[in-house]
Amino acid sequence: MYVDLSDIIMALLLHILKSFTMAKNKIVYECSECGEKHPKWQGKCASCGSWNCLIETIFEDYPAKNNRFDGLTQTSQVVSLSHVEAQDILRKNTGISELDRVLGGGIAIGSVILIGGDPGIGKSTLLLQTMDQLSKANKVLYVTGEESIQQVALRANRLGVHSNDNLRLMAEIGLSQIIKAIDKESPQIVVIDSIQTTYTELLQSAPGSVAQVRECASILTRIAKQKHITIIMVGHVTKDGSIAGPRVLEHIVDAVLYFEGEQHSNFRMLRGVKNRFGAVNELGIFAMTDKGLREVNNPSALFLSSHRSKTPGSCILITQEGTRPLLVEVQALVDQSHIMPPKRLAVGMDGYRLSMLIAIMQRHIDLKLFDQDIFLNVVGGVRVTEPAVDLAVTLAIISSYKNKALPEKLAVCGEIGLSGEIRTIQKGQDRIKEAVKLGFERIIVPKANLPKDKIPDVEIIAVQNLSEVINYCF
Ligand code: TYD
Ligand code: MG
Repeated sequence: MYVDLSDIIMALLLHILKSFTMAKNKIVYECSECGEKHPKWQGKCASCGSWNCLIETIFEDYPAKNNRFDGLTQTSQVVSLSHVEAQDILRKNTGISELDRVLGGGIAIGSVILIGGDPGIGKSTLLLQTMDQLSKANKVLYVTGEESIQQVALRANRLGVHSNDNLRLMAEIGLSQIIKAIDKESPQIVVIDSIQTTYTELLQSAPGSVAQVRECASILTRIAKQKHITIIMVGHVTKDGSIAGPRVLEHIVDAVLYFEGEQHSNFRMLRGVKNRFGAVNELGIFAMTDKGLREVNNPSALFLSSHRSKTPGSCILITQEGTRPLLVEVQALVDQSHIMPPKRLAVGMDGYRLSMLIAIMQRHIDLKLFDQDIFLNVVGGVRVTEPAVDLAVTLAIISSYKNKALPEKLAVCGEIGLSGEIRTIQKGQDRIKEAVKLGFERIIVPKANLPKDKIPDVEIIAVQNLSEVINYCF
């Protein structure tokens, strides 16, 4: 076949010209430790020597036109703080009060929320129910990258979610398509289920990779701030329970919520771990039913429903979760060990704290626990992280060791110091009130937490050290 040489030269010239005039987006691999850029992926950073730290990123030549970060730099004037008019955050009630509580009083408009949790825990269910409520007064867009639209519709039927024209659905994983849909539909709230399935064409790596997750989240965050819409992203969690993807994901967003619960229990807990618009460590409690998630308004009563008093090894703890006091049962089993060292296991609390309390008991009340297996469980799948759990754990262990039940209708709270002293705890009054409300008649509290006024029919025992507690209980 005859080909004109001048045609080939022309085509070549055109190609070279085009590559010069095109947007100069380059893929580089940036070290997450030292920031050094490499043209190719490699296992080790040649600059700082760290392993497995190169992340695919888009590198734009400076000053590039159409910078993808333009939106962030438009308003960056320097002003005096006194001249800035602070506006109250506008919030929308979701219609699900437990969720509102965790968010600090409703969804803040223009915020970006990340919800993480194990597979099958109920993230999609919760969001579909929330969007149903919100769609009564707002236009919402639910983008699913994991299920088909039919699957979502089936779930909606099961949940009794009434078809509403304001609840718009989309099954899509391409970020550019999602952005187009947001532009077209102009929703006030967008759900991205999940951020790990979303991808941007700007990067070559697969959806779910660190680079993709980070890039998609930051683009979506920028859109939320520019358009003043709320974006809720679902995030998968890794084996150790943290949200998969870069840690930076949690830095980008305004609020991070974890949806947790035991596999074999119906209860689900929504915990706020970061919130730029409210308090953290708030706990929302739900029950998974055949009609979706139902709010649990009186969780203490529920956690204690199976509690039988007069059982050795059981003690009721008054814990505080965010703004809400919560009564939970702490159970201990102490048994002669046949192996050395003996077994120590804590479910629902920190294992190191348990070891510390065992040492305190051995040293200060002369309890011989060195040859005993000790198992501890906070009933109901709650995880208690505050130090006020100490007294309940100690009493449960002693009660099981002595095989003697604690006095009836007793609830306790208090931190124990290394010298056996009972230390003051926060929000003592709220805790006492909650225990009284639930019918407890004996409440052990640290001395400084003793209320000024007497409560009729309730004995408040203020204690200063561990020996006083033992004298009262056994
Ligand atoms: P899902 O919301 O799909 O979980 P995630 O999005 O976190 O992966 O929840 C799925 C689980 O919830 C599934 O195991 C079944 C259960 N479920 C119910 O028990 N009742 C219901 O009404 C629904 C919709 C789900
Ligand atoms: Mg899901």
